[in-house]
Amino acid sequence: MTAKSVQDKTTLHNGVQMPWFGLGVFKVEEGPDTIHSVKAAIKNGYLSIDTAAVYQNEEGVGEGIRQGLAESGLKRGDLFITSKVWNADLGYEETLAAYETSLQKLGLDYLDLYLIHWPVAGKYKSAWKALEKLYKQGRVKAIGVSNFQIHHLEDLMKDAEINPMVNQVELHPKLTQMELRDFCRQHAIQIEAWSPLMQGELLTHPVLLKIAETHGKSVAQIILRWDLQNEIITIPKSIKEHRIIENSSIFDFNLSLQEMETINLLNENRRVGPDPDHIDF
Ligand SMILES: NC(=O)c1ccc[n+]([C@@H]2O[C@H](COP(=O)([O-])OP(=O)(O)OC[C@H]3O[C@@H](n4cnc5c(N)ncnc54)[C@H](OP(=O)(O)O)[C@@H]3O)[C@@H](O)[C@H]2O)c1
Repeated sequence: MTAKSVQDKTTLHNGVQMPWFGLGVFKVEEGPDTIHSVKAAIKNGYLSIDTAAVYQNEEGVGEGIRQGLAESGLKRGDLFITSKVWNADLGYEETLAAYETSLQKLGLDYLDLYLIHWPVAGKYKSAWKALEKLYKQGRVKAIGVSNFQIHHLEDLMKDAEINPMVNQVELHPKLTQMELRDFCRQHAIQIEAWSPLMQGELLTHPVLLKIAETHGKSVAQIILRWDLQNEIITIPKSIKEHRIIENSSIFDFNLSLQEMETINLLNENRRVGPDPDHIDF
């Protein structure tokens, strides 16, 4: 069912509720930019923030959360905070230590979701054991992966005690990830889209501009609405408050089945980020 508001949530396979919509902070500079964007998001109703150790802005995210909570009157438990373990920290002990470092930087005592950032061959299984331990200890509400292809998921789940609750992958109209989405649906793994706007590249696409015009909306709003109608969690990044508001103003219109299909047909299997099968970092 399509989300009805920016605060609407989906239920992950372990029963934890995760907002369909959130703010991403990749490439947001540590310090005032990060603090202000997180604060602006919370002020405008966002409940979910997506960061990662490698973004090097977890301290700013933590500060933005504290200021946002103080201003809004919300509580920590109202928010959904995600971070990710970086490739260099994959390994059982290393990943446990990386979790503590992320918590310390964020100034939080738990995360809602902790993800393995990339499927580094030979390393993600021991990291997954660490995530399972953190989960079983109640230190993290949900655990998942990012950038996992079907074969990575199959390999991980062969030995896993707990299946990932989320797979966060590059996904937008030029990379619709149909097969991966089907696989994840069959295994109750929630798909989450990163770079939903293709880092801005899609915003002048003529087909999307035409649909946007029909609805009196921006292309960003059309793409984000397409995500939600596809039951895909989406986390657009912006450091500008007017865009933070714009991106979440997508609950007052519907894309028709024909428009959804037109957008699906834009797929070119084209990535803006690295191919998970050929990573060298
Ligand atoms: N797991 C992974 O490996 C991975 C990889 C990449 C990203 N991510 C996550 O996904 C999040 C989103 O992806 P992303 O940051 O790569 O790209 P994105 O959200 O697709 O696009 C962000 C870009 O679009 C601009 N923008 C945002 N809203 C706009 C609007 N309404 N109109 C015009 N321009 C707009 C932003 O500029 P301004 O900021 O100037 O507004 C920024 O340049 C990240 O922040 C991160 O949390 C995860």
